[in-house]
Amino acid sequence: MDAQLAHARLTRLVEINQLLMNTMDPNELLQAILASALQLFSAAGCSIALIDDTAQQLRFAFVLGGARVEEFRIRLGQGLIGWVAQTGQGVVSNDVTQDPRFFGNVDRRTGFRTKSVLCAPLKQGDEIIGAIEVLNTTDPQGFTPEDLQLLMAFGGLAATAITRAATFSTVQNSQRALQEIVQDRYRLVVGTSSAMQEAIRLARTVAATHTTVLLLGESGTGKEVVARAIHQWSPRAECPFVAVNCVALTPELLESELFGHEKGAFTGAIAQKKGKFELAEGGTIFLDEVGDLAPTLQAKLLRVLQEKEFQRVGGVRDIRVNVRILAATNRDLQKAMQSGTFREDLYYRLNVVSITLPALRERAQDIPVLAQHFLARYCQELKRAPLSIDEQAMALLQAHPWPGNVRELQNAIERAVVFAAGPRITPADLPVQLQQPSLRSPQTLPPLPFTDHIPPLMTAVNEFKRALIRRALQVAQGNQTRAATLLGLRQANLSRMMKTLGIR
Ligand SMILES: Nc1ncnc2c1ncn2[C@@H]1O[C@H](COP(=O)(O)OP(=O)(O)O)[C@@H](O)[C@H]1O
Ligand SMILES: [Mg+2]
Repeated sequence: MDAQLAHARLTRLVEINQLLMNTMDPNELLQAILASALQLFSAAGCSIALIDDTAQQLRFAFVLGGARVEEFRIRLGQGLIGWVAQTGQGVVSNDVTQDPRFFGNVDRRTGFRTKSVLCAPLKQGDEIIGAIEVLNTTDPQGFTPEDLQLLMAFGGLAATAITRAATFSTVQNSQRALQEIVQDRYRLVVGTSSAMQEAIRLARTVAATHTTVLLLGESGTGKEVVARAIHQWSPRAECPFVAVNCVALTPELLESELFGHEKGAFTGAIAQKKGKFELAEGGTIFLDEVGDLAPTLQAKLLRVLQEKEFQRVGGVRDIRVNVRILAATNRDLQKAMQSGTFREDLYYRLNVVSITLPALRERAQDIPVLAQHFLARYCQELKRAPLSIDEQAMALLQAHPWPGNVRELQNAIERAVVFAAGPRITPADLPVQLQQPSLRSPQTLPPLPFTDHIPPLMTAVNEFKRALIRRALQVAQGNQTRAATLLGLRQANLSRMMKTLGIR
């Protein structure tokens, strides 16, 4: 072969390598390999076979003769390409019909008539992952030994690209699966209470904007769930959502976590590291427990909010980011400002819009939907047949004050799914503190009839009944059916009793 042609082919090979290395989608990559090989060898057809380890088969990936693209499976070792894939040796043949290894099966299926063949293994290091063949050269000389050398080199590049793309797509798929699990974990259940609906309406409205949002509410009320929902509803949904807990780390570590550090910035900073602000580029950063941020970091955060700029720890360069900030706290920031532990300027920057999530005890009507949601989720996660919650257990769930809010409810349901013996969750499956209808916050409940004289028994009993029924009604938020369940009565009985006792 003349030197000029050899040089041209080498240049072409380098270009092809570039193309292959930039193609990450496995199918696109196979197409690119086939098209490149056709062009490089002026051939009429080209095919690739990849070894499928588990099946001990060759995935005869594509035949590209003209525009035809097909896929078959053949046995390992079958045909010329199968022999090459098994032995790792190249073959050049200008009259394949004379070659005993040739197996006309593929020709019979495609209608293509193979005359000359050049076939090389796809080798990634020492490992053979398959073989590639180009068919029917248009060159009157036929395929040459130099052609085979070139195809061997090409096969090495293609094998590397295929392995990379396969690894990448596995990682991507598992990431996608993981993301789905994460999204399901953080699925927001809104419920029917007006307090929650109002909060979510506000969240949806601000989602479309770039505005900083401060999420307030007791621990376990769903601040993080709502922050994730805002991100999902925002134009940034395709970019990362990065959550940082501001109390989990010392201020020094948190600074490097948020802003990153340069190599050698401190002992242990053996390499440069990007911070969460950089990792959230284009997306949303969620600063959880922001009320606990150390004063030095409050100043740095203020700068990001004002100028969108910061420096890595140990760095001198200003880094600019496009990140939307959401923050949450269960602290009373007004109080923290008064006592000087939280900067006022930072407060106003964070508090452009604030959304307060109501405590669960203030929205007992949302308890059934939340409970059903967690029930379905844990039955699936714990691989139990679908369960239901019996009426009495549900009444107890609705009567409990839930100091730990939705998180506590979630835990109670998870526990019940583990413990439930039958197909229904009963009061016995609930945590003990739930099993007795709660007599919490007595100051808001009607007093029991303790008097300083001894009344006639029937009077006292009726007085007691009245007080107890009123209390049950209050716990059940006026719902007679639920109050009856708490008292162990049928609703009709309760109703009759109320009439007799003169309770409206
Ligand atoms: N509205 C809701 N819908 C579904 N799950 C919720 C809701 N609110 C809270 N949770 C669940 O309760 C737990 C605590 O919520 P989280 O957002 O971490 O609360 P907070 O950040 O306010 O402490 C999480 O596991 C979350 O999935
Ligand atoms: Mg939280």
